[in-house]
Amino acid sequence: MKISERLKTIASLVPPSSYPLDIGCDHALLSIYLVEERNFLKVVASDNKKGPLEQAKKNASSYQVSDKIQFVLAEGLDAYQEGVDTLTISGMGGLNINRILLDHKALLKKLKTIILSPNNYSVAVRRNLVKLGYFVKEEMVVKENNLYYPIFVFERGKKFYFEKDLFLGPILKQKNKETLVLSYYQKLLQEKELLLKALPSSFYQKRRQTKKEIKWLKKVLES
Ligand SMILES: C[S@@+](CC[C@H](N)C(=O)[O-])C[C@H]1O[C@@H](n2cnc3c(N)ncnc32)[C@H](O)[C@@H]1O
Repeated sequence: MKISERLKTIASLVPPSSYPLDIGCDHALLSIYLVEERNFLKVVASDNKKGPLEQAKKNASSYQVSDKIQFVLAEGLDAYQEGVDTLTISGMGGLNINRILLDHKALLKKLKTIILSPNNYSVAVRRNLVKLGYFVKEEMVVKENNLYYPIFVFERGKKFYFEKDLFLGPILKQKNKETLVLSYYQKLLQEKELLLKALPSSFYQKRRQTKKEIKWLKKVLES
């Protein structure tokens, strides 16, 4: 089955024999792939819009895997089903992802693994997950259509991180010999340098923070 490199990478990170819930499934290609290619027997695919979910059901039917996917029309973690221990959310803004998790803090205790691929605000996502009692187990970057997609795996457990690590990614920064990670950091550096140029001098705090981030990026790129 052909799916994007980004979704394939996310699928590869879902622990075997887990019971996953994909929030914001849209086409449900991730869930279908888990059943088709990774032999999952039971997955939950949810979306808060009827249209995408109807399409998802049609897609599952055309792959003949409808009996293994439970489709739920729900807002965020309202889609939780008893026994689910793994959550995936991808292709959404980081602040939306954070809100989905914060809206159901009590449910998080049941989620051993959370795999996230935000379209933006990745630092805010890392910070939120650490606050919620998760640590960063794995981090990857995928490039598709000239855009970079970070992918994070969080597991339940407490760990302390310096601000610099939350910015660069505690695992990603150790992969700074990988071409893709290097070019991701280079892209971030370009963005931060442009931002610094555009920031008026009265934005003292923001300028200070951006300068700090530029320094971290230059250091990790040089090491
Ligand atoms: C751009 S698609 C991403 C699809 C897929 N996850 C991927 O990575 O390719 C985002 C989907 O998330 C759904 N969505 C957005 N906010 C949501 C929420 N709070 N709860 C459930 N679904 C949501 C949208 O309806 C849309 O189908």
